[in-house]
Amino acid sequence: MDKSHAPIGVFDSGLGGASVLKVARRLLPMENYIYYGDNAHAPYGDKPEAEITDLTLSCVHKLLDMGCKSILVACNTATANCIDIIRTELNVPVVSVEPAIRPACMLPGKGKILMMATQATTHLERYLALQARMPDPDRIINIPCPGIVERIELGRLGDEDFDDLFAAYLAPYEGLYTDGIVLGCTHYVFIPGAFRRAASLHLRGNPQLFDGNEGTVHQLARVLDAHGLRNNEGAGAVEFHTSGDPAKFQPIFHMLLSR
Ligand code: DGL
Repeated sequence: MDKSHAPIGVFDSGLGGASVLKVARRLLPMENYIYYGDNAHAPYGDKPEAEITDLTLSCVHKLLDMGCKSILVACNTATANCIDIIRTELNVPVVSVEPAIRPACMLPGKGKILMMATQATTHLERYLALQARMPDPDRIINIPCPGIVERIELGRLGDEDFDDLFAAYLAPYEGLYTDGIVLGCTHYVFIPGAFRRAASLHLRGNPQLFDGNEGTVHQLARVLDAHGLRNNEGAGAVEFHTSGDPAKFQPIFHMLLSR
């Protein structure tokens, strides 16, 4: 049976995955997408591992039950926590985001690379193993950033909306010479201005920002091709589902997608 017209399921703890979906819509415009945000339980980043695993599995199974041909895990926290279990449990191809430390580490220079992500991602074994495989792992400083996700979930995206949080995260690194900042959470991709402002207020150097969204979508395209699942006709559509209140989250989702 030809499943190429079936939708791709996009999952995130909340609305951050819209930053990945946005790239997917640009690079794979003929695909149909079903987005599932677990907004009732976001943020995941402050929760224990077992709880993140249970929540994630229940969400990706919902997407599978909706007939998705493939799953895009648009949540770094879920990837670091349980991507192997997801791949084992689901009988469709699974692609996932991961902090883009590899391209950041290719930057010439001796400045540090700050990997900013949820508390969970910065501590999880899978991420730490990825860091250990980099040519100079000590160049990377992992900074947990509790609090950002909650504000983005409310649609707050102003450059100055995060000043208090960044002042606290970066206090131990004031004046540090920095070449790159990795946005290790898909929510953060919506606030590059806030990261640039924080860098100009607290760091030295002119750090370049990195995210893994485009690389992930290229990988999705390769995987769809390899399984004969690529949809090559029609205008793709997006359907939004949430475990939270749709009246609250749907408008913010569409606002984020259209930015
Ligand atoms: N967008 C999720 C990520 O990429 C946010 C995690 C959270 O809910 O704390 O990690």
